[in-house]
Amino acid sequence: MQEKEFRTARGYQRLVQEQKNLTPSMEDYLEMIYRDCLREGYTRVNILAERLNVQAPSASKMVQKLTEMGLLDYEKYGIIRLTDAGRELGEFLLHRHMAIEQFLANLGVRESLLAETEMIEHHFSLATLNKIIKLNQFFADHPEIHARFLQYSRQTDP
Ligand code: CO
Repeated sequence: MQEKEFRTARGYQRLVQEQKNLTPSMEDYLEMIYRDCLREGYTRVNILAERLNVQAPSASKMVQKLTEMGLLDYEKYGIIRLTDAGRELGEFLLHRHMAIEQFLANLGVRESLLAETEMIEHHFSLATLNKIIKLNQFFADHPEIHARFLQYSRQTDP
């Protein structure tokens, strides 16, 4: 898992170094497109708009922007596919999402798990993300310690 993180983070790191950071909104789109493409091999503007709860014209605008950045293959009114660069980034973003969601679940968060993941997932450095992944792995490797933590957390709740 650790090695996979470093591999899939490469494209992301490149963007950060070139200061071409994606906005949180661009990251949400790319993550969703990656999820859809995993399932179906492609997606469409109207499907994306529905999943992301936005109007079709905004989705269309964003898809065009991501296409200009070389992350998507898209012709107007057609189907949307990921380029290799887009797929690499999408894989990283989905991986990051799952790591943060697991992190919150490990803390004992139950309600609003998805909503809170969506709020915070964009704002970690790669170094911090890797530490979070290590903590997840540590809890997975030592379930008895995780159980003790959850018990401690419950006992000291107000
Ligand atoms: Co997400």
